[in-house]
Amino acid sequence: MTLAVPHPSWRRLEPLAAHWRTRRQLELLGPRPHRDPCEFAILGDVEPCRFRLLRLVFNRPRVFARQLLAIQEGPAAFCVQLGDMVGRGSPRFYARFLEELGGLGVKKPYLTVIGNHDRSQPNGPSDSALYRHLFGPCNYAFDFGPARFVMLDTSFHRLRRAQLRWLERVLETHRRKIIFTHMGPVQLGLWGGSVAHAHGGFSRGAREFTELVSSMNVDRVYLGHVHAFGVQDYLGVRYVLTGGGGSALFPVGAPDRFHHYLMVSVDQRGIRERVHPLEGRPFEVPPGTVLLPPVEPTWPARVAHRARRLVNGGI
Ligand SMILES: [Fe+2]
Repeated sequence: MTLAVPHPSWRRLEPLAAHWRTRRQLELLGPRPHRDPCEFAILGDVEPCRFRLLRLVFNRPRVFARQLLAIQEGPAAFCVQLGDMVGRGSPRFYARFLEELGGLGVKKPYLTVIGNHDRSQPNGPSDSALYRHLFGPCNYAFDFGPARFVMLDTSFHRLRRAQLRWLERVLETHRRKIIFTHMGPVQLGLWGGSVAHAHGGFSRGAREFTELVSSMNVDRVYLGHVHAFGVQDYLGVRYVLTGGGGSALFPVGAPDRFHHYLMVSVDQRGIRERVHPLEGRPFEVPPGTVLLPPVEPTWPARVAHRARRLVNGGI
């Protein structure tokens, strides 16, 4: 963890960010008894792409705003944004995002997960200091109704041992267990294979993660990073990719690329997801097991992955 002295430009963001701090949003959410069912919404990647040409070709303006406002009209108790809220985690990008968020009239608690774009640089050496200054811890957990919700930081393409130890502790509960994290473990072998998303996830700590969530009977892992939708069951745990919050729909390896958000209901019987596409009718995610063969990454993905290993020190 990088200890950084707040820059004056960070101080100027504090009034904009104060309402959206995780602690403040959890206070707004309040408690819900264990036996009471709950519904919540998940919104995947929303950053509009910081490169002008790519933005012009692939991005659709205002999708994030439209979807977040639609969530306000529904029954969700709160909304989770799965990371990559800004193109780059700099004061200028955060200021623009927080001004937009503040102008939308969001009433439901809005909880964030850190993505690689929310760090000081989206790829390569970077830190999460500004995100933490604005929102609070990158790893946190809370109970609400029948579930324990765990936000896990995979924004640096890895999980550290300390995170895995923390995760093991917070998963000690009789409630249902739901994890939100930006990147998926590379073992899924899915939802990647392009230069931008080599292998589609994090590799260091990935095997330990998949084994841990399996042994701890985690009910769901919700993922973003790849701007698409997908479902996969791995070692008995269901992983749901829901990266269509509003970011550009790049031509990555995943087939189901469309803008959408998820509505999730949790009760004593189980967890059910409903996909709300930006266009078209909502549909339920079928409960049947989805087992998929691993996908061999393309050679550009292998090159990008090796480059990242070098830059990030053996990841
Ligand atoms: Fe990402």
